[in-house]
Amino acid sequence: MKRRVAILISGRGSNMAALIEAARAKDFPAEIVVVISNRADAGGLERAKAGGIAAVTIESKPFGKDRAAFEAVLQAALDKYRVELICLGGFMRLFTAGFVQHWYGRMLNIHPSLLPSFPGLDPQGQALRAGVRISGATVHFVTAETDAGPILMQGAIAVVEDDTPETLAERILGIEHRIYPDALRLLAGGRARLEGDICKTEGSAGTGGVLISPAAS
Ligand code: GAR
Repeated sequence: MKRRVAILISGRGSNMAALIEAARAKDFPAEIVVVISNRADAGGLERAKAGGIAAVTIESKPFGKDRAAFEAVLQAALDKYRVELICLGGFMRLFTAGFVQHWYGRMLNIHPSLLPSFPGLDPQGQALRAGVRISGATVHFVTAETDAGPILMQGAIAVVEDDTPETLAERILGIEHRIYPDALRLLAGGRARLEGDICKTEGSAGTGGVLISPAAS
């Protein structure tokens, strides 16, 4: 049985599109049953509909600071679609500790840095200002702390001399689109488990690649 997944978005939804595409494969252990946006103008909503996926808007703005009231409506939608796993894809709204606790171990997020470095806003700019030579993207379980929580998968790229936040973001996005479907495959397939604050995965041998940046010659 495929695990039933909701993707939560606030914007263009390119990670959402990558997950939808991957989940079309017969052997993929999850199906995307609904995309939910907290903004009616999120570009990803149209992309989801075009892909034949149910797309729901629950505007968070009218709820103001009442996060629990927003989450009650969100939870009702998740119940309606019998959602088992949640993937956040650029979902720009913080959750209450109660909601996070309820979904702990079943809710993933993707962030465009090698966490725990550079959580929060403008991670690519943070990486450039720190002068790191390697950056990347992280898929992690969601906890009450923003862009923290047990790490399921990471992918890395070299930072180059003339990178701007925009060029770096674009290359990291390419990594995001590869690792998010792979991470969901592991979780939905029962090949990722939490041991305290650490995520253990089957297939943890990695790809064997070594990334050295910059090259000396
Ligand atoms: C992605 O780069 C994602 O990693 C980032 O928002 C972008 C959403 O793009 N998320 C965060 O920064 C979370 N803190 P998308 O809508 O095209 O998937």
